Amino acid sequence: MESTDPYRPGRAHTSRTSPVVPAIYQTTTFELDDRAYEDIQGTGGLHETWYSRFSNPTVQAAADDIARLEGAEHGLMTASGMAAIATTLVTLLRAGDTLVASKQVYGDTGDLIERDLPGLGVTVVRVDAFDTEAWRRAIAEHAPRVVYGETLSNPQLRVMDIPSIAEAAHGAGATVVIDNTFATPFCTRALDLGADVVVESATKFLAGHSDVIAGSIATNDGALIEEIQRRIITFGGSLDPHAAFLVWRGVRTFRVRLEEACRVAVELATAMAEEEGVTAVIHPSRSDHPDAGAVVDRVMPERRGAMLTLVLEGGDERALRAVRSLRVAVEATSLGGVETLASLPFNSSHFNMSPEERLEAGILPGMLRLAIGLEGVEVLLDDLRQAITSSG
Ligand SMILES: Cc1ncc(COP(=O)(O)O)c(C=O)c1O
Repeated sequence: MESTDPYRPGRAHTSRTSPVVPAIYQTTTFELDDRAYEDIQGTGGLHETWYSRFSNPTVQAAADDIARLEGAEHGLMTASGMAAIATTLVTLLRAGDTLVASKQVYGDTGDLIERDLPGLGVTVVRVDAFDTEAWRRAIAEHAPRVVYGETLSNPQLRVMDIPSIAEAAHGAGATVVIDNTFATPFCTRALDLGADVVVESATKFLAGHSDVIAGSIATNDGALIEEIQRRIITFGGSLDPHAAFLVWRGVRTFRVRLEEACRVAVELATAMAEEEGVTAVIHPSRSDHPDAGAVVDRVMPERRGAMLTLVLEGGDERALRAVRSLRVAVEATSLGGVETLASLPFNSSHFNMSPEERLEAGILPGMLRLAIGLEGVEVLLDDLRQAITSSG
């Protein structure tokens, strides 16, 4: 019977009619009933909503929408992109296994691969992301349990030949995990190309507003998704419902945001190629991109992404002056927001390398990375032009 105590908090209301927007289930716990107990006792509580570290309807609404974008049957969300990557890799790998991974991965993923996984008894072999023959050789030689790479490398925007590498990996019995954060499912559906699991920093283009840290995991493997879910539960990397709502809301405009940003990136790339002081323009839409042709056409068949890298004459000092002169684009790390973000590899993503190491890794002096937002092509072009001119 309902308590008559006026100080007792009221019970949650539910609506008879369906809300157009998913309710934010900002609750840690749910009333237990027979089905919940059955699930707890049967599966460990994976399928019923009873405690939000295990599952939560708002979090699952965002996960399901992202899974649909990836063309996946199953999706999960995590508290960050790194939680998605780490939980997936630790679920798949055991002591004694080998991981063949790209050399060109996000810095914290590199630390996970180089520092943490070997500590768990995993052998790590690194290869150049865009050297498909090197992938084939490493896979044949080491018979890895997992093959891991990113669709697009940072900041060179080299394109990984996912279909060829996945074919080699599957021939050796390996599971292919792709971080698709830079390309996004708007440009690349990694699962369709042969990946077994696709992870994203949903913090970026998926959520799209620079206001939430989140990660996503998508796969067609129902048994694997349960194993990953068990680790999200035990490692505690679950996403908060309010954060999940922000992701969900960002995903509502994903297609139009990406359509616009990808189009503007192409237009800026074309214009910047003619600009004095710009010695190189790197974008997968360009015919002088090193992977132009078969690889780009297969991996990014229609859309070529909203990341754009310029190389400025005058090296890193000039690039720093240019970035400081921007009036619209914001000098900040990260990507995928509505505002264009500009960053310099030499003092951010690759600061811990010497200039010689950077050169060897293809990080050229004067490189400036742009994550295109929604300001419009004219505004961004004016901003870039004035910044480049004033920095010269
Ligand atoms: C390619 C890539 N993967 C993963 C991550 C990690 O994502 P998060 O910051 O959401 O943990 C990032 C972050 O910048 C990234 O750029």
